[in-house]
Amino acid sequence: MKPRLAGSGLGTRIFVALIVVLCVAAVTAWIVALVIGPRLFHDHMLMVSPAEPYSDVVAHAEEAFDSAWQTSLLLALLAAFATSIFVTVVLVRRLVHPIQQMRAAVTKVAQGDFTARVPEGGIGLEFAQLISAFNTMAGELDQTERTRTRLLADLGHELRTPVATLNGYLEAMQDGVASADTETLVMLRGQTDRLTRLAEDIALVSDAEERRLSMHPTPTRIGGLLAAAQSQTRSRYETRGVELHMIADENAKAVMLRLDPDRMGQVLTNLLDNALQHTDPGDTVTLSAEATDASVTLKVQDSGHGIAAEHLPHIFERFYRADTARDRAHGGSGIGLAIVRSIVTAHGGSVWVHSDGPSTGAIFTVDLPRQSKNTMKVQ
Ligand SMILES: Nc1ncnc2c1ncn2[C@@H]1O[C@H](COP(=O)(O)OP(=O)(O)OP(=O)(O)O)[C@@H](O)[C@H]1O
Ligand SMILES: [Mg+2]
Repeated sequence: MKPRLAGSGLGTRIFVALIVVLCVAAVTAWIVALVIGPRLFHDHMLMVSPAEPYSDVVAHAEEAFDSAWQTSLLLALLAAFATSIFVTVVLVRRLVHPIQQMRAAVTKVAQGDFTARVPEGGIGLEFAQLISAFNTMAGELDQTERTRTRLLADLGHELRTPVATLNGYLEAMQDGVASADTETLVMLRGQTDRLTRLAEDIALVSDAEERRLSMHPTPTRIGGLLAAAQSQTRSRYETRGVELHMIADENAKAVMLRLDPDRMGQVLTNLLDNALQHTDPGDTVTLSAEATDASVTLKVQDSGHGIAAEHLPHIFERFYRADTARDRAHGGSGIGLAIVRSIVTAHGGSVWVHSDGPSTGAIFTVDLPRQSKNTMKVQ
């Protein structure tokens, strides 16, 4: 069955509820006053004048008593009625306004506008909690939507180059201008590899930014982590003729941290690969570790090309490359450092870069807390 006041607003409901309470109170007071009051008064009058119970004075006094209580009750009723209207108006204004704001914001979110927020305030703790929960939810949706939009835009941009190269070569081969010789096939394979790596990197970084990056944290020795990163990159360094050193005292190497060794290994190899890409034969790259009571600091320092000051604030951004022409030639997508930052942040740590400018080398520092308050999603 449909509730009787289903269609009416909150204000009407509160007002009706107050009026019902008022009417019950008034009727009860009226009945009590009508039945008990005059009788009590009459008994008192008898005590004062037992000789003449029905004299004019007694009759007059009783009439005065009746009109006094009736007038008082009427005035009280009027005052209560006026107060009810006032209370309803004030309450409804304070209640309905945030509800209307909330309804408008929810409608906007439902229509895809995730920037909608409800101003903090309202009445009472419950409302404040509701508003705060809504705003948090809208903020998360907004962030996800922004990531999605930016990712699609970046992705379109990044896909264009390898796809255009593949298309160009395939067309040339179809027209008989180019032949499917080993060199061409290696080049084409390079482009498909780049596309594959791009797809994997994007999946990884978007998972990390959505805090969906799965982690398998295990107690890991820092020494083992450094050695694994070094052995994974050694052959590439040897081929390029760049020296790779490791500096870590036994104390730092022995530290055990609870982290995902594969992900953290990826951080170090990304940094070491970057260092290799931005150094020349004869340059040196040093991987080092230091431990304090509070944290472990890992550093990748190179004596290579360095980074100009204007690029420093941006190089951890997704798809950002300081030297676009050179890095495109290397096939870099500018995602490596975004992945590094996401993984380090998921471990509760921080990462930053220092460079005194072009040709002065660069230092990337990763700081990992020993008491990790990480945000990683464990699977
Ligand atoms: N050690 C370094 N020395 C100088 N510049 C660097 C160094 N490391 C990174 N950079 C600059 O920062 C940019 C971003 O690095 P990032 O690792 O995110 O992308 P990438 O190496 O170009 O591509 P990807 O890692 O996705 O293959 C690089 O393009 C480069 O310009
Ligand atoms: Mg890189």
